[in-house]
Amino acid sequence: MARSSIVASLDLGSSKVCCMVGEISRNNEIDILGYGVAPSTGIKKGNIVNIEAMVRSISEAVLQAQQMANVKIESVLVGISGPNISIVNNRGVVAIPRSDREITPHDVDRVIQASRIIAIPPDREIIDVIPRQFIVDGCEGIKDPVGMIGTRLEVEVSIITGQLTAIQNVVRCVQRSRLEVEGLVLKSLAAKELLLSDDEVDMGVALVDVGAGTTEITVFHGENIELYNLVPLGGNYVTNDIAIGLRLPYSQAEAIKRKYACAAASLASDKPDIEIQSIGETSARKISQKELASIIEPRVQEILSIVHKELKAVNYRDMLAAGIVLCGGGLLHMRGAVELAQKMLGVPVRAAKTDMYGFDHTFTVALGLLYYSARNRTFSDREEIRDKGTLSFFERAKQILREYFLG
Ligand SMILES: Nc1ncnc2c1ncn2[C@@H]1O[C@H](COP(=O)(O)OP(=O)(O)OP(=O)(O)O)[C@@H](O)[C@H]1O
Ligand SMILES: [Mg+2]
Repeated sequence: MARSSIVASLDLGSSKVCCMVGEISRNNEIDILGYGVAPSTGIKKGNIVNIEAMVRSISEAVLQAQQMANVKIESVLVGISGPNISIVNNRGVVAIPRSDREITPHDVDRVIQASRIIAIPPDREIIDVIPRQFIVDGCEGIKDPVGMIGTRLEVEVSIITGQLTAIQNVVRCVQRSRLEVEGLVLKSLAAKELLLSDDEVDMGVALVDVGAGTTEITVFHGENIELYNLVPLGGNYVTNDIAIGLRLPYSQAEAIKRKYACAAASLASDKPDIEIQSIGETSARKISQKELASIIEPRVQEILSIVHKELKAVNYRDMLAAGIVLCGGGLLHMRGAVELAQKMLGVPVRAAKTDMYGFDHTFTVALGLLYYSARNRTFSDREEIRDKGTLSFFERAKQILREYFLG
């Protein structure tokens, strides 16, 4: 009989916290049961700066999702990002000792465990281990070795590590919200599940997520993550400039940006139809969209020039045959942003789709986490593993986190 399970996810963003809960069926289909979103004030430039504020935002988002789904959320899969995240490649090898030599999910689990053994500095911690390919008796390029016959099973993995204290702060916020951490997943891997096609990933593609406080740049090429970096600049930077340039309270600058923002002055209207009242002025005045765009454009250019600088590290013009996919709220809604990015970066740029199964960009990471979870059940959540009493990928991650943080 088909077995299904409830999975919940959390995206801790600089502008909002999203929670999503869904049911994953035995054949990996996802049925969204509920979701919640709450404003976030506890993160600045990608770092948690106020635990109490984060706990409030998480609790509010989770409560909304719980009420909608009518299920109690006890543990969550958490998206993680950070300026100190790095990715190293490693290998693991195990022998298949049984006489029938058939590779089981348990062997896959063992070889992935073996690949985790690397020396990392004491201030860092493994976040996730991603199999790139399996090798059975020297035969390379295997995605799923279960059921194959062999004597020696190898795996090549990408190990994602992060700064211990930053991870501890994320885990602390979740635990103080009375939730268990089911696992930590790089946000861009969650977004990749929804936004990138397999062809794009095979050809080489950069996912550039311009959020509120950060811009996350990840380059995928085949099974490899060629580049990951998080820079502390995003849409808030643009809002700040509007607030300063037009002498407006931040909330008004944000509202005007959302309604009229255009990233290229040449595309903006010069009709003076945006009414503003600057601080210290007694009456309102009208400005044109072009005037607003002349404040926005240099900031967007600055963000894009940092993206350019980061991408140059991987010789991106040759590597990104599928170009760049822009996501995140920071640029996605701004007219002219894609064209500007294309001009400045010199490779094809497309905006990520903004409607994913009825959800807008706000939920990209939270929804992507559920899809990531479904995909990662392939090896470790099979019945055999449970029968043999070993732990699934996320259960293992949960156990490690529990041991680590609760001592
Ligand atoms: N309609 C819109 N027009 C222009 N900008 C918008 C619009 N809607 C949202 N934004 C901007 O998108 C940003 C929020 O995007 P997003 O939800 O991706 O950020 P986040 O995930 O909370 O932040 P981060 O990823 O940096 O932690 C804010 O800067 C906001 O001003
Ligand atoms: Mg984000």
